[in-house]
Amino acid sequence: VFHSHLDERVRPYIDLIDSLRGIGIEKDLALPAIAVIGDQSSGKSSVLEALSGVALPRGSGIVTRCPLELKLRKLRGGVQWKAVLSYKDEYIQFDNPSLVEGYVAKAQNELAGEGVGICDELITLEISSPDVCDLTLIDLPGIARVPVKGQPDDIGDQIKSLILNFIEKNETIILVVVPCNVDIATTEALRMAQEVDPEGKRTLAILTKPDLVDKGTEKNVLDIVRNQVIPLSKGYIIVKCRGQKQINDRISLSEATKTERDFFRRHEYFSCLLYEEKATTQCLASKLTQDLVDHIKKSLPIISEQIKKQLWDTRTELSQCEEGPPLDPHKRKAFLIDTLTHFNDKIHRLSMGEVVSEENL
Ligand code: GDP
Ligand code: NA
Ligand code: MG
Repeated sequence: VFHSHLDERVRPYIDLIDSLRGIGIEKDLALPAIAVIGDQSSGKSSVLEALSGVALPRGSGIVTRCPLELKLRKLRGGVQWKAVLSYKDEYIQFDNPSLVEGYVAKAQNELAGEGVGICDELITLEISSPDVCDLTLIDLPGIARVPVKGQPDDIGDQIKSLILNFIEKNETIILVVVPCNVDIATTEALRMAQEVDPEGKRTLAILTKPDLVDKGTEKNVLDIVRNQVIPLSKGYIIVKCRGQKQINDRISLSEATKTERDFFRRHEYFSCLLYEEKATTQCLASKLTQDLVDHIKKSLPIISEQIKKQLWDTRTELSQCEEGPPLDPHKRKAFLIDTLTHFNDKIHRLSMGEVVSEENL
C-alpha cells in the first residue's frame, strides 16, 4: 500500500533492531518502538489497521485487552503475505490475513481471560508482506474512565500503569490518538504523554474521525492540526479510517485508503492539509518511518555504550574464573588425569583426618 522513498535507507536500521530483539536483547536494553495510546474507541486499532493493512480486532468497548506488538516488515519480489503470532509458549504461523482477528482474540482470551479483563503480557504479531512499511507498533488497551460490569474498580489505574510501562521508556515514540469530535485539551492520553515527555520530543498526535467533526468546529480542528493550539514538536496528522458502516459494508482497506484521499481532497476545510503533508494514513506512515529511523540513529551510540560496559563487566568476571581444559585434544587426556590425581590426593588427605583449607581443595 505504501511506497516510501525512504525504504532502502531505513531497512538496515529496522533489521538491526529486529535482530537485536530476536536475540532477546530487550531484557537488558530498551529498544525503540511506536506505542499507540488514547481513550477507548478513539480509533487506535483502526489507525494500526490502516498502517498494517491487516484487520485487527476493533469496535466499541474494550477490544484491545493485552499489549499487541505489531512488527511489519516489507518483503520484495513476489513474496506472499505471511504472519507469526507468538505469546507465552505459543508460536502460530499462518498465511491467511483473515485469520489475524480470530487468533489475536484467542490469545487475549488465554492471557486476560474471556470478558473484559486486561493483562500486561505481550502478544507479538509479525507480518511479512510486500504491501506494508517497515514499522514496529504497539497497540495498547484504551483508557477507560468508568469500569463496566465485570471489571475491577481500579481498571482505569490498571490500564494507565500498563500504558505508562510502555511510554515512559525514552526509546518509545508515543502516538496519541484523539478523535476530531472530542476536546483535545481534556484528553487523558495527551496528558500522560506530556507527563513522560514534557518537551514532546517523541510524541506525535493523530486526529481521527474527521468525518464526524461537529459542524462549525472545523476551523478549530484546522488550528489544532497546524500546531497552533497545543504545540507538540512532532505536531499532528489527521487521518480518516473506516467507520462501522464501511466495515459492515465490507469496504476493503485498500479501497478505504482511496476513499480517505478523496475525502480530504473534497473537504471544504481540510483539503489544504493534503498539501501541507498533515493528512492521510499514507503521510502518517512515511512520517513514522522517518521518525523511527531518526530515533534509532540517536539511540545507537547509547546502546553501543551499554553493550561495551556489559562486555567489560563480563570479561572482568571471566578473568576471575580458572582456566578450563586445554583446546588441543592431545593435551586433554593429560589434563583430565592431572585433575583426577589431584582430586584423589585431596580425598585421601581428607580421609586421613588432615584439615584441608577451601583454597587448597
Ligand atoms: P480503539 O478502541 O481506540 O482501538 O478504537 P477502534 O479502532 O476500535 O475504533 C472505534 C470505532 O470507531 C470503530 O467502530 C471504528 O470503525 C470507528 N472509527 C475509527 N476511525 C474512524 C473514522 O475515521 N471515522 C469514522 N466515522 N469512524 C471511525
Ligand atoms: Na475499542
Ligand atoms: Mg483497540
